[in-house]
This record gives sequence, C-alpha cells and structure tokens, in this order.
Amino acid sequence: MWRRYLTTRISASGYSTLTRPRTSKWWDHVCPAPKDPITSVTEAFLADTSPHKINLGVGAYRDDEGKPVVLQCVRDAETKIAGSDFLESVSSAVSSRLVEESVKLVYGRDSDVIKEERFAGVQALSGTGACRLFAEFQKRSHPESRIYMPDPTWSNHHNIWSDAKVPERTFHYYNSDSKGLNFAALMDDVKNAPDGSFFLLHPCAHNPTGVDPNEEQWREISYLFKVKNHFPFFDMAYQGFASGDLDRDALSIRIFLEDGHLLACAQSFAKNMGLYGHRVGCLSILCNDKKQAIAVRSQLQNIARAMYSSPPVHGILLVSTILSDPNMKALWTKEVKAMANRIRTIRTTLKGSLEQLGSSLNWEHITNQAGMFCLSGLTPEQVDRLAREFHVYMTLDGRISMAGVTTGNVSYLADAVHEVTKFGHQA
Ligand SMILES: Cc1ncc(COP(=O)(O)O)c(C=O)c1O
Repeated sequence: MWRRYLTTRISASGYSTLTRPRTSKWWDHVCPAPKDPITSVTEAFLADTSPHKINLGVGAYRDDEGKPVVLQCVRDAETKIAGSDFLESVSSAVSSRLVEESVKLVYGRDSDVIKEERFAGVQALSGTGACRLFAEFQKRSHPESRIYMPDPTWSNHHNIWSDAKVPERTFHYYNSDSKGLNFAALMDDVKNAPDGSFFLLHPCAHNPTGVDPNEEQWREISYLFKVKNHFPFFDMAYQGFASGDLDRDALSIRIFLEDGHLLACAQSFAKNMGLYGHRVGCLSILCNDKKQAIAVRSQLQNIARAMYSSPPVHGILLVSTILSDPNMKALWTKEVKAMANRIRTIRTTLKGSLEQLGSSLNWEHITNQAGMFCLSGLTPEQVDRLAREFHVYMTLDGRISMAGVTTGNVSYLADAVHEVTKFGHQA
C-alpha cells in the first residue's frame, strides 16, 4: 500500500516528490546556541590581521615562540608504536594499562587503594569526558544530589553537570580584593552545605584563578569534609603545571587519601602531555573494596557504552606507552617541569615589566597565582580596549592564559596592559 501511494506521487518531470527539495518545519524552532566564551576569543583573534596580535584565551601550552609543542616523549612513543596493530580496537590490556598508570600518578605508586584494587577506573574522552561520565554516574547513583562548584570555575563545568541534570550550587573560592583564596568563606560554605554533599575541587592550578589552597588549608578542608561526610570530586586537568612536579601537584588528593576519604578524580593528558587533540583521560572512583569497585566500574562502562562506546585508540597507546616505560616517563617528567618553569619565568617577567613601567597597581598576584592561568583583575572594559586598540585577546573575566605570553611579546603586552589600566582600577 505504501509502495502504491509513493508511486502515484511521481511527478510528470520524473522526480519523486520525496527527492524534491522543499521546506520543512523540523528545525524552525531551533535558535543558535550561546557561544562558548573561549571559542569567541579564538574567532576574534583569527579574524585580526595585526602582526602584533596575541591570543591569551586558549588554555593550551605554547613554547616561547608561541607555537604548540609536541613533546619529545610523545615523538618517541609515536616511533615505538608505529605499525602497531591497533586500527580495530584497543586491547583491554592496553586500556587497563592506561588506567593503572594514570591512577598511580594521582594516588601514588604505592598507594593502598591501588594495591587493594579499591578503585573503579575507566579511560575517558580527556578531562571533559571524565567529568561528564562522573556527572552522569552521580545522577544515576544519587538522583537527588547536587554538585557544589567553586565560584568561579571552568565555564564548561556548568554545562557538564547541567546536561547530566544535576542541580548546581556554588561555594566561595576567590577573593577579588586579595586576588587569592577566600578561605574563611570557603570553609563556611563547606560547613553550611547539607551533610553528604558532592563538591567539585580543582586539586592544583585552578582554572580560571590560578589560586590553590596551601597544604595546611587542604588539611583543614579535608578534615571538614570528613566531619560533614562530603564527597570530593577532583578535576585534575593540569597535573604538573602548578609546581612543575607531578607528585607535589597531587598533594591535595594524597591528603584526602590519608584522611580515609572515598573520592573520585578526572584526569586529562591534554595539557601535560600536549595531547589535546587525542582526547586521552581517565576517571577513577575510590570504593570500599574490590567487589564494590567492580560494580562501579561496570556502571561507568555502561554509561560510556551508550554515550560513545569507546575512546579513540591512538592517544591511549601513546599515553600508556609513555607511562609504562621508565625512560619515557622520566623524559615526560622533565618536559612537564620545563613547561611549568617557562610559565613561572614569564609570570615574573610580566610582573617586573609592569612595575618598571611605573604602574601604580599591585601585580603581585601574577606571580602568586600558579599554573596556566592568571586572573589578572582587568575589567571587561579594559579587556575590550586591549582587543580593540592593542590586538590582545582574552576572556572578558580578565583571565590570561600565561602560555600565550612569550619573551617576544611580553613587553608589548605589559605596555598595553599599563596603557588600559593607567587611569583605572582592577576588578
Ligand atoms: C578545570 C578543567 N577541567 C577539565 C578541562 C578539560 O580538559 P580536556 O577535556 O581538554 O582534557 C579543562 C580544560 O580547559 C579545565 O580547565
């Protein structure tokens, strides 16, 4: 009957009405989605033809010539895996090696949770994918729960938990006067949250502020979490970038571990291995025992299966090759330190240049903050002037991606920042 109906609709021209273009209302109600703040910065930068232009928006590492870097350890791993039989799918041995080696980086090589296999770990689509998996798992296992996020936090955290239908609350984090941590207000919010709440924490190199609690403060936070029975979810996107030392940057997590918390951690190799395009990450959730870990892992695999099945193979092979080869891992450790050092040095140069120009404002926070980002204190109007008059691009909140600052552009940048802040104030 359907066939007869369709045949009668063949037109005189010989074209079926089914293949003739016609307007349809399927997507008429769809409006453009709001632009991601970082994408907008990149677009404006690319459209600018000035030879002086500087992109301080994107949070990916650049060398001192402003170029993206392929680490030597990655080149070595490429050579080692060349010709591997990996096109079909990654073997479970390789993917579990990635997880085993990743969790050692955060919990410590000799950690009991690893020896006792008390963790549910899965490879994930970089840090974003690991956060998304956890948000979904949180919704399914604790449907009534909320997530407490620092104010401010990486803008995509809001999208991720909102897409998982987990309601969000914020907790105090940044003090815009001191451009440091608002520790007292943070502790108050932790204390006042209902017992057993989920909290998102940045273990190091906080994005966008570059402000981290010190060791003593982490100990106090961990203690209060214990008292309140809160669950800490650590989003580790920049391990190594704060101090240059992978273990030191995991100190916050190790403190929580020592205090006997169950916790979860999202890891990304986008920045610290320069593998942004390969989307390699890991999600691990600590459990009471091995049996619980197996159950939790099976649920995570189940979520991933329906979302994207499995992640691309090449990046997993690269990371697992580097982490399981002592020489390559040692080289990687050195290369991470070098990247962190370059950023630290350029922070000092930028602060020094502003002081030399006679700026009356306090720029101490440029060197007090750590990691890839500096929340400069520039107002949206000053950021706008920097783009329009000086071809310097950053997000409207005044966040500078320090990786975009180089020996070649730092004095131009300092001049521009001095010019737009001369008669003004900081946010
Ligand atoms: C705090 C934080 N978490 C997670 C991510 C996600 O990183 P990726 O998905 O590129 O690994 C980022 C990236 O900017 C970030 O800043």
